[in-house]
Formats: sequence, structure tokens, C-alpha cells
Amino acid sequence: MTFRSLETADLADKRVLVRVDFNVPMEGGVITDDTRLRSALPTIHYLSSKGAKVILLAHFDRPKGKRVPEMSLAPVVAPLSVLLSQPVLFGEDCIGEAAYKAVAALENGDVAVLENLRFHPGEEANDPAFVTELAAIGDLYVNDAFSAAHRAHASTEGLARLLPAYPGLAMRRELDMLDAALGKPVKPVLGIVGGAKVSTKLDLLNNLVRKLDRLAIGGGMANTFLAAQGHDVGGSLCEHDLGDTAREIMASAKAAGCELLLPVDVVVAREVKPGTATRTCGLEEVKAGDLILDAGPATVERLLAAMDASKTLIWNGPLGVFEVPPFDMATVAAAKHAAALVTAGKLVAVAGGGDTVSALNHAGMAGEMTFVSTAGGAFLEWMEGKVLPGVAALEV
Ligand code: 3PG
Repeated sequence: MTFRSLETADLADKRVLVRVDFNVPMEGGVITDDTRLRSALPTIHYLSSKGAKVILLAHFDRPKGKRVPEMSLAPVVAPLSVLLSQPVLFGEDCIGEAAYKAVAALENGDVAVLENLRFHPGEEANDPAFVTELAAIGDLYVNDAFSAAHRAHASTEGLARLLPAYPGLAMRRELDMLDAALGKPVKPVLGIVGGAKVSTKLDLLNNLVRKLDRLAIGGGMANTFLAAQGHDVGGSLCEHDLGDTAREIMASAKAAGCELLLPVDVVVAREVKPGTATRTCGLEEVKAGDLILDAGPATVERLLAAMDASKTLIWNGPLGVFEVPPFDMATVAAAKHAAALVTAGKLVAVAGGGDTVSALNHAGMAGEMTFVSTAGGAFLEWMEGKVLPGVAALEV
């Protein structure tokens, strides 16, 4: 993939439309996790330092083409201004009179946030008329929102067709790291895929077994594989109707030479409650009414050995019910071991998607990985091997 480089762009005095992902967790108008604001800072600083007028375009939540006051982007302005250590203007709309006014008020190096793109139906419809209206307020387009790149919307895809388009610094880093993990990784490559359900990760598993040397499956979804092998999983979360699918995935892995690592022992309990009585047992000792809530120590040991034997790790999804200790044991042990190998320069570890970031934060290890993606759906679609429209549109 070849992209234009921001370093070669003439930015002084230019109105630069920057698509960022400010779809941040918010409670009562207060941001509870500002990671996505922080990840946009390098690009904003860079553009501002080069004398551009920085116009930030973003969506928040899913207002479905209507103006929903609770979904305004206004609450991000003050926190962003603090993070940037400079004033941030707010435009009450992303097109038309209000947008023109906000942009006209900018001096070189200034920053503005425009109101939620999704207040207009043209955003999600990628309506050419809406794209034209957005393009009218900018000279250049920068996309720094990898986490929204799986959407073919006006601001993520359409604009790249109308204005000279560049990936932002966070987007570049994300693409480089994802390439290092799955595009052109240093082998051997180990994948960890966990989480509750196989049904949400079928395409992902089918893609990964063709690309990886080893794939460890954990979390609730491992139960579906164990059941498909004939093991009794008691009352555990399990998609019993997906037995054939699980067997097909196991067969594809075998045909592709990908070693599947399924649990060899498990931690069970009668209820999902902190401090509840637990039992560690082999696969043959799971009783009716038992809930498998974490991988056992032998499984963890084998996973850590697989990490030692790998050069690259790609990780999506927790290995157990990490939110309820002690069922975080496997996830925390795996995170700590990966972190130690990264620190020792022996492993490139890239993680992302869904609650992977919370699981790594819980282990206190998110900062120790080589790269942690803040993307949810986009990370998963990329792991599925899909072309992301927002990335494809930036290619030259
Ligand atoms: C996300 O939070 O994953 C992105 O901002 C995309 O949001 P969406 O799923 O509403 O398109």
C-alpha cells in the first residue's frame, strides 16, 4: 500500500480537514476514557506547527442523521484544549454557514472541532452532495481515524476522493503495526483469540488459521471447540449448534499447518462471582452444572511456551472472565509474559479489538505491548482480512 506522506505536503495557510475518532466513552457529558483524544494529538500538533488551520471532523455515537443534543461533540472541546495546551474552537455544524464561520475564524495553527457528522444523513450514506459540502471548507484531507476506517462514510471515504488525501500520524502507525503483526510479520507468529462467542469471530478465525503458525483459542469460545471435540463442558457458555463449524475450522487449521492450542485444563465454578469456590481440573473432570470460567495452569504454561517460541503475537480477546477475579488468572499471566518478552526485545506484540484493551489494562500491561489498537470493529475486520474502505481510499 502506498500513501501520500504528510511530510511532503505544503501545509502553511491551508485548511486541513482531519477525520478523527472522538467516539469516546462518555457519562453525563464527561469523558471517562480520553485515549482516543490523546491518539489524535501528534497529528494535530504537527499540522498546527506547520501553520495549517486544523479542522477536526468526527462522529459521536449513532444519532442516525438527526440532531440529537445528547450526542453533541461539544463536551470534547474543553478536554481537548487542555490536552493540546491551546484553545479549541467549536463549530455548531460541520457544513454550511456555521461551518464556514468557524473555519473563517481560524488563524494559521488554530484548531476547531465541528459538530457531529452523523447529525446529517449524508455522512453514513456517503452522499456525494454532502461530501461536496464538507470538501468546500477544506483544502486538504487527513484521515487519522483507523477505528472508523471500516465505514465507507462521507468523512472516511468520500472526502479522500475529492481532496488531496493523507493518512495522519496515528493512522500511519496503526497501519505499520498491523502490517508488522499480520501483513509481513517476523515468523513464527502466534495468535490469541478469546472472548465469548465463536459466532462473532468466524471470518476472523478462518483468516487467521491460514496465516499463523499457532493459534491459541480461549475464553467462552474455546468451550465450543472443546464440545465439538466431544468434551463435556457442563453448564458453560457454549454454542453447541456450531459444532460443525468448529470442526471445519480445526480441519482448515490442520490443512494450513497452523497448530491450534485449545485448553488442556480449566478453572470451573458454580457461579460467576468474585471469591466464589473454584476448582481446577482436566477436561474429563468437568461436571454437569460446572461453568468453565478460565483456562487452567497447564494451558497457561503451554501458552507461555508458545510465546517463547514466537517472534510475533497478535492478540484479540480475553482468555477468561477477567472482570471477575480469580477468573483473570490466565489473561493476566499471558499479558505479563508477553510484556516481559516485548521488554526483552524478543517479541512484537500487537493487541486490539473489543474488550482486549480493558483486559490488558486490567493486567496493567497495555502500555507494555508493542502496540495496542484503540479500534474495535475496524481491528476485527482487518483481522478478518477485509479491505477497509477508509484505508483503501487513501492509497495512491
Ligand atoms: C468505534 O467506536 O468503533 C468507531 O468509532 C466506529 O463507530 P460505529 O461502530 O458507530 O461506526
